[in-house]
Amino acid sequence: MARITAGVATSHVPAIGAAIDLGKTREEYWQPVFAGYEASRAWEREAKPDVVILVFNDHATSLMLDVVPTFAIGCADSYKPADEGWGPRAVPVVQGHPELAAHIAQSLIIDEFDMTILNEMDVDHGMTVPLSLLFGEVDTWPTRVVPVVVNVTQFPPPSGDRCWRLGEAIARAVASFPEDLNVQVWGTGGMSHQLQGARAGLINREFDNTFLDNLVADPQALRRITHYDYLREAGSEGIELIMWLIMRGALGPNVTQLHRFYHVPASNTAVGHVVLEAA
Ligand code: DHB
Ligand code: FE
Repeated sequence: MARITAGVATSHVPAIGAAIDLGKTREEYWQPVFAGYEASRAWEREAKPDVVILVFNDHATSLMLDVVPTFAIGCADSYKPADEGWGPRAVPVVQGHPELAAHIAQSLIIDEFDMTILNEMDVDHGMTVPLSLLFGEVDTWPTRVVPVVVNVTQFPPPSGDRCWRLGEAIARAVASFPEDLNVQVWGTGGMSHQLQGARAGLINREFDNTFLDNLVADPQALRRITHYDYLREAGSEGIELIMWLIMRGALGPNVTQLHRFYHVPASNTAVGHVVLEAA
């Protein structure tokens, strides 16, 4: 039987990918960001997931604007790094797990989550930056990936509570897959940031740290955060944090926090990262 063993949350700031690709990780500005992921990279080498269900958003790279799926799941064999304007990142192609993905898609749709099925997709910084942060510079990614894509770029995104319940449904789907697989769920994006408008550059350490606290102390409270709360407190792109709730909903009530990291700033963004072990 497939098992969800752990959850990971991390920001996906594109400048982090550029810093890696341009050899800047030891520079004074970037060193503290990458230092915050060293323990997690060591942990991942031991944890050895067979599959990561990687919850992320596409930034109008492969999807969106013309077609806006609220929730989508990748059922492809593989996913190429996308060209986001400077050529594709020189990172490995992401290997999918079409059998597990098709099983999860069927289970979710029967469970009343009407997923869009993606049989082809190039993946942008929303996926490649978290993979780089957790696995480092490698020739092949050491896990297969089932992408779960959430609309957080075009109004109206799903509610945080709906995301939580999708996480619970993903856990039911994984538990009914017959093959023995070590599965992690990753929630990506955030934390507070706003990239445009009068409040561009907004960062809210208090909101972010309360959110990090409550992933362990009071996760139910996170389900009640509304779109307006995210917009007001965490900036227009802070809404990406709803993707962390899919991860947290999938892990069940009891978790052990193995690692927590918070750093300001990376580009214009507050970077947050946690590793949670499932009970
Ligand atoms: C930036 C873009 C993002 O998608 C994000 O989540 C954080 C920062 C940026 O362009 O700086
Ligand atoms: Fe983003």
